[in-house]
Amino acid sequence: MDTGKFYVTTPIYYVNDRPHIGHAYTTILADVLARFHRSLGDNTFFLTGTDEHGQKVEKAAAKNNMDPQVHCDETVVRFQELWKKLGITNDKFIRTTQDFHKKVVQTILQELYDRGEIYRAEYTGWYCVGDERFFTEKDLVDGKCPECGREVTAIQESNYFFKMGQYRDWLVDYIKTHPDFILPEFRANETLGFLRQELGDLCISRPKSRLAWGIELPFDKDYVCYVWFDALINYISGVGYLQDADNFAKWWPASCQLIGKDILTTHSVYWPTMLKAMGLPMPKTIFAHGWWLTGNTKMSKSLGNVVDPMAMIERAGVDAFRYFLLSEMTLGNDANFSEETFISRYNSDLANDLGNFVSRVNKLVLRATNGPVPAPGKLEPEDEELLATVRDAAEKMAASLSNMKLDSGIASVLGAVRAGNRYMEKCAPWVLAKEGKTERLHTVLYCSAELLRQVAVLLEPVMPEKMAQLGRILGYAQGELGAISDLAKKESDLAGRIMTETDPLFPRILVEEKACEAAPAPKKEKQAKKEEKPVNLITIDDFFKAELKTAKILAAEAVPEADKLLKLQIDVGGVPRQIVAGIAKSYTPESLIGRTIVIVANLQPARIRGIDSCGMLLAAKAGKELKLVTVDGEIASGASVG
Ligand code: ME8
Ligand code: MG
Repeated sequence: MDTGKFYVTTPIYYVNDRPHIGHAYTTILADVLARFHRSLGDNTFFLTGTDEHGQKVEKAAAKNNMDPQVHCDETVVRFQELWKKLGITNDKFIRTTQDFHKKVVQTILQELYDRGEIYRAEYTGWYCVGDERFFTEKDLVDGKCPECGREVTAIQESNYFFKMGQYRDWLVDYIKTHPDFILPEFRANETLGFLRQELGDLCISRPKSRLAWGIELPFDKDYVCYVWFDALINYISGVGYLQDADNFAKWWPASCQLIGKDILTTHSVYWPTMLKAMGLPMPKTIFAHGWWLTGNTKMSKSLGNVVDPMAMIERAGVDAFRYFLLSEMTLGNDANFSEETFISRYNSDLANDLGNFVSRVNKLVLRATNGPVPAPGKLEPEDEELLATVRDAAEKMAASLSNMKLDSGIASVLGAVRAGNRYMEKCAPWVLAKEGKTERLHTVLYCSAELLRQVAVLLEPVMPEKMAQLGRILGYAQGELGAISDLAKKESDLAGRIMTETDPLFPRILVEEKACEAAPAPKKEKQAKKEEKPVNLITIDDFFKAELKTAKILAAEAVPEADKLLKLQIDVGGVPRQIVAGIAKSYTPESLIGRTIVIVANLQPARIRGIDSCGMLLAAKAGKELKLVTVDGEIASGASVG
């Protein structure tokens, strides 16, 4: 960010139930962004909170026979406690039932009313209780709510309206001329599509006879404010609007307002027109991420298929959970949540790649020096190359922040870790130790530990606890590891730090063979049949010995004098590789470029016709026919397959 300021917000969540993985995701994403920006030296403010008015909350309270405020006070704690547990570093937690917020909303309402931006009229329309939204006849899909498909109720009453429609042309123009305003780009297009039809005015009141739980309109005591109009204002009331002009000027406009795609229209149409009417600048970016799905349907409280974050946290720890959510979802798209994908990513990225590398370096340094990280001797090209890989990962990480491709930034850091593992195989420090090549041994150990130091700094925003622990393994006290902005500026202070022996950073999760457990005990007479089954069974652990990953083909060329072979340059999560594959009879080199394939990533390197091949691609074969194994749609390279 060029301004050196970063203000990030999450939606404020309804306090009608307990938080689930969807809420945890947006909040962790905001936290990771905030931590990265702090680490890059930006002045950062991170706001989250709860949306406590409206029918949903009123109903939830009534169901429990509770006063709405008491219900809110009790439920909000679940969010606050979960955020604490997840290591969320929000600077403020706003609740829309707080007095300062209510006052700001009322002042805004009064001012807009006085200026004629709000008027009273008779209204007929359709109302969706679940979404708390009014729709006109033509909005309805098959007579049902266009958002959620539930039944709608016909409503006729006198209400107050915000003159939203008059801003349509302005908004269309603003979106078109500010390509960063609504991201990803296809969400901006979706908004423009919505704006192609006429934009009506927004009903911003609810008669108290129908809904009492809200902020009273300052100009009509019989009405409360529509919950969305109240809720959106949190983004400005939370940083001092109409209370502390200096603070407000310091933070507004927001740098990044994170939302799920379910609340795009309220944020890409209502919110900008409200700001416009108030004469306030627009946020730099509103970013709508996709949904976490379970079994291909949205995880949601109303559908009752939510995954409780606590179960996953207990299994693998908070940081592994944060890592999984951040690395598994390509920002903007939907992602599927399952325990299997969670465990396999944990085992492959964290236990195998990072965890193993840490314990190798740790053990080798202790064996070589009894503790201190050795100072390096003269650096060889392979050492320079390794350190360049992690520098490059740092740059990719920073770039991935501004273009909101965090998963690919994280993948490049993991790519550097894998390069570390390969470097270690190649340099074989255990052989150097045996042969008494102490200077070379020290250099290799230093470079490996230095890679880890930088990885710890780069992944701290994602896994704060674990990376602090890695720092301690490397000999750094809490807070001593430094920030990302120091990486390029300061010399490494690693040599001479005292490493200590530790337990594994990411102990492998053993997968229970659930399918077998769940199967009913075989009946006697069926035994014979069972024995005829294929005998070549492997355990899931055997299977995961093969690391299958997605890879993107960057370049392809024929291998001279080998009519079956092609030499491919591929990208695996930001790390380039070369493989040789026997597919030339079925694919021309040009037809392969840009395709995402599946490779065995941890196959021992081989030389084929004098060319290095690191890994093997997967293809299906039937006689002479050969077809590459590919993935169903877009996914980042380096994604684990299994
Ligand atoms: O809409 N996958 O609150 P809410 C990913 N109070 N993210 C998900 C998700 C899922 N399955 N489910 C929920 C509201 N989320 C309003 C917001 S803002 C001024 C008012 C996340 O409790 C995602 O960020 O229904 C989504 O937009 C938000 O929770 C909705 O939370
Ligand atoms: Mg919702």
